[in-house]
Amino acid sequence: LLKKTKIPENIIKRGLVSLGSFLKPMEDLLNQLKPPENGWRDDQIKFFLEILAHMDSNNDPSSFQIGEREGRISTPLLYDLTAGFIHGVGRSGNIKAPQPKATGGSIVNNITDRLVTFFLKEMGLENIRGSIVVPLSTGMSLMLAIKGIVNKYKLDLNTDQNEIIFPRIDHKSPIKAIDLTGKIRITVDTITGHEYIADLSSKLEKSKIKEYQIDVLKMYQAELEFVRKFGLDSVYVPVGNIKEKINKKTLAIVSTTTFFPPRAPDNVKEIAKIAKKHNLIHIINNAYGVQSRNIMKLIRGAIDAGRVDAIIQSTDKNFLTPIGGTIISAPDKLNLNHIAEAYAGRGSAAPVLHLLVSLLSLGINGYMNYVKIQEENRILLENELRKIANQIGEKVLDVNNPIACMMTLSTLNNEKKIERLGGFLYNLRVTGPRVVNSKINKFGPCTDNYPYPYIVMNSAIGVKREDILGAVSQLKKAFKQLDIK
Ligand SMILES: Cc1ncc(COP(=O)(O)O)c(C=O)c1O
Repeated sequence: LLKKTKIPENIIKRGLVSLGSFLKPMEDLLNQLKPPENGWRDDQIKFFLEILAHMDSNNDPSSFQIGEREGRISTPLLYDLTAGFIHGVGRSGNIKAPQPKATGGSIVNNITDRLVTFFLKEMGLENIRGSIVVPLSTGMSLMLAIKGIVNKYKLDLNTDQNEIIFPRIDHKSPIKAIDLTGKIRITVDTITGHEYIADLSSKLEKSKIKEYQIDVLKMYQAELEFVRKFGLDSVYVPVGNIKEKINKKTLAIVSTTTFFPPRAPDNVKEIAKIAKKHNLIHIINNAYGVQSRNIMKLIRGAIDAGRVDAIIQSTDKNFLTPIGGTIISAPDKLNLNHIAEAYAGRGSAAPVLHLLVSLLSLGINGYMNYVKIQEENRILLENELRKIANQIGEKVLDVNNPIACMMTLSTLNNEKKIERLGGFLYNLRVTGPRVVNSKINKFGPCTDNYPYPYIVMNSAIGVKREDILGAVSQLKKAFKQLDIK
C-alpha cells in the first residue's frame, strides 16, 4: 500500500523497520500469550490498548445501540479514565465469559489471567493450573472463592456443614468475607513461638517414654522446624488446635500466609494435609505473598502435600497497581470456572486493565528486579531498626517475616506515650507503620496477651531505600519528641 505514496522503496523499508520494532512486542504477546522478558514502553502499551478498545461496540460509530446498557458516557473524560473499555468485563453468568459487545475488553480479560499466572509460576508457584483476575477486593474475592467451591461440590448451603475454621488473624476484611458466606466462623486462637516450642518439646520428650506413631512424631518435628524458621516472638496457630475444631459440621478452612507480625504465616502444608484427610474446602489468603519466594514455596508445598482449592492475592499489594483487583489462582481449572460463575454481574474492566498495564510495563525482568530490591530493603530495614533499638534500649523481635520487621516499645511504659508515638510519626509524614499497645489493643496482635507493645514497619514490594532510611530517622525524631513533651 505504501508504494502508492511514491516514496522511494528504501525509505519505506527503513520506516517499516522502526514500525516493526515498535509493534514486535505486541506480535510476540499475541503469538506466545506470555509476558515480555523486558517491559514495554508506555507508548507501546497505550497503542496496544487503543487498538483493543476500538474492537468494542461502544467505539463503533456506525452501530445502532438500543440496549439499556451500551457503554454510553456523559463526557469524553470517562473514555480517557477507562481507556475506552467502557463495557467492562464478563457477562452476568460468568465474570470471565467473553462479552459480545466488548471484544477488546474480553481479550484484556483473557490475556491478563494468562500473563499473571506466568508471573506467579516464575515466583515459585509452579503447580497452579491458572488464575482469574476479578474486580473485587481481597475480602470479597475470598467470599466469592468459598461460594464457587461450595457450588463445585454441589454442597447445599442449608445443610449442617456450616462451619468455617479460621486460624485467627486480626483483620476485618477476611472476617467479614467469611461472615458474608452466611456460615459460622470458628476462630482458632494463636500462641507465641515460645509457648509453641515448649509444648512441642514436651510432646517430643514424652515420646521417649510413650509410644507415638511415627507420623505424629514427624508432624511435631515439622512444626518445630516451622516455628524455628518464622521466629520465637511470632504468634502461631498450632496445627493440633485446628484439628480439634473439626467435626461433622466443618465445611472449610481459610488459612493465611501474609500478615503483620507478630502473626506468622499459617503452616499451610499441614493444613492442606488436614483438609485432604477430612475432605474440607481449603482456601489460602495469600494477600501480599506473591512478592515473596519463601511464601510461594510454602503454598507450592501445600498444593503438593494436600488440598488447596484456591489462593487469593491482591493485585495492588503484589503488582504495583491501584487498589481494586484480586488474583484467584487454583491447582484445578475447574475451580476457577466455578468461582467465575459465582460472581454476580458484569465487572469494571479497570482492575484487570491496571494489572495488564503493570505486567506489560514491568516485564518479567522488571518484576524480578523489584523482588530483589524488596529482599535487600527487608535486610536494610532490620539493620536500621536494630541500630535505633540499641540506642534507645529496645529490641528487634524474632519474627522472621519476609515483608516486615517489628521492634518493642517497652521503654514507653506510659500508655499515652505509645499512643502519641503513632501521632508523631503521622505528623512526621511516615505512613504505614503500626504502633500497637498490646495491653489495650486486643485486635491487632492476633493474640490476647502479647508481652510487648510494639511497632511494625514494612518493606513491601515497591518500597524505596530512601523510604526506609527516612522512616527510621523520623522514628528516632519521634522518640526524641516523646522525651521532650
Ligand atoms: C491478610 C489480609 N487479608 C485481607 C486484606 C485486605 O485486603 P482488601 O482490602 O483487598 O480486602 C489484607 C490487607 O489489607 C490482609 O493483610
